[in-house]
Amino acid sequence: MFWTRRHFIKSASALTLSAGMPSFVRPVIAEDGFLEITAGPSKQKIFREDGPSSDLWTYNGKAPGPEIRVKRGEHVRVRFINNLEEPSSIHWHGIRIDNAMDGVAGLTQAAVPTGGSFDYDFIAPDAGTYWYHAHNRSWNQVARGLYGPLIVEDEKPSFDHDLTLVIDDWRLADDGTLETASLGNLMEWAHGGRLGNWLTVNGRPSPEYMLRKGEPCRLRLINACNARVLELDPNRFGGRVTAYDGQSLGRAEQLNYSPFLLGPAQRVDLLIVPEGDFAIEEISGDRPYAFATFQVSGTATERAEPILPMPNAIPEPDLTNARRVTLDMTGGAMGNLQDITYQGKKLEGDDFRRTAQVWAFNGVANMAETPHFSATRDETVILEVENNTSWLHAMHVHGHHFKVISRSGAELDDGQPWRDTFLIGAGQKVEIAFVADNMGKWLFHCHMLEHAAAGMTTWFEVT
Ligand code: C2O
Ligand code: CU
Repeated sequence: MFWTRRHFIKSASALTLSAGMPSFVRPVIAEDGFLEITAGPSKQKIFREDGPSSDLWTYNGKAPGPEIRVKRGEHVRVRFINNLEEPSSIHWHGIRIDNAMDGVAGLTQAAVPTGGSFDYDFIAPDAGTYWYHAHNRSWNQVARGLYGPLIVEDEKPSFDHDLTLVIDDWRLADDGTLETASLGNLMEWAHGGRLGNWLTVNGRPSPEYMLRKGEPCRLRLINACNARVLELDPNRFGGRVTAYDGQSLGRAEQLNYSPFLLGPAQRVDLLIVPEGDFAIEEISGDRPYAFATFQVSGTATERAEPILPMPNAIPEPDLTNARRVTLDMTGGAMGNLQDITYQGKKLEGDDFRRTAQVWAFNGVANMAETPHFSATRDETVILEVENNTSWLHAMHVHGHHFKVISRSGAELDDGQPWRDTFLIGAGQKVEIAFVADNMGKWLFHCHMLEHAAAGMTTWFEVT
């Protein structure tokens, strides 16, 4: 679990942020209006303010990178400059984007070489909480800090406070610096992926925020961990869900279960009307771990519930005329490695270690030459996913939001929220449905980034 007592020598200064205070670096704006986002190595203290610096890879010098904010329907224009020692690209996670701008190295663009640059220019059609991250050797680049928030604002924000919390679990070595020796460890790739031992919010351990009593606050939680599923309980602090994976529900919903799982790459927006001090805790360990705390002061004045953003217009799937596609997930530790083909060859013996491929979709590890399926534009696709592994996975569809229509054989009503990433437990079967209305080549992969690299990646085409 997370480091707590052992390494927590009475913190010299808990950093307090008042709600209006920026916790992100500013984007650099070029003369032609493009935001410049430069990936490169930089030093950052992620353990403690008075601790050692880690060698990270960041966007514009800090992890997370700048918070990009636009209004619904506006252009996002980013000039990506690569000063890393390896090629990279940026993916705009959750945006129903023009395919050419999706940032998938090797599928929608060539990776940007060291010293190169690439202009991203796309419209953000939906309001909500999104994020961007490196999409080349992501297991390495995201673990080192290459990610940032992308917020698409609603027309009439009516919250007094709007806070973005990008959560990451770093793996620190005993000296409190980022541990990198274990990156690429195949044993971890075949298990639950790379899990960290140090939780930060916007690059800081346990930040403290100041809020005013009775003033509605929107908390946008983004799970930027490589592989960790965060366990939360919004009811402990009076949080109500207003959006999943960026898509507004149009109402504030109190959860009637716990824990609430926030998988890698997933987002949740919470509405809080604070009455007193509170903390947000990760509750998977023996004792809850408060990773963000809130000091609430002042006297409440009577005020109306904030106006929640309208749901975005996403086409409803037509289940009666759908293309059915199956996806059988296999492999991994304690799983079946018998029938895995990679680049046209069946893997055996030492092949697994040599190729670092240990997971498969329908028996195929990683990107095949041909798409997993093709859909014609505006066709409804039902993806029937069966997890025949011993592990939990976080499956992400690029370019589209979908609804989960059944889980473990139980049909769900059509009031399910739109999502771009869903969790699927060992042995579970989940069906999702979406209208394939976005032309191009789209990735479908596990967002536990080690799993994606080790075989759990495929693609589909909309023509
Ligand atoms: Cu957030 Cu293919 O990724
Ligand atoms: Cu996975």
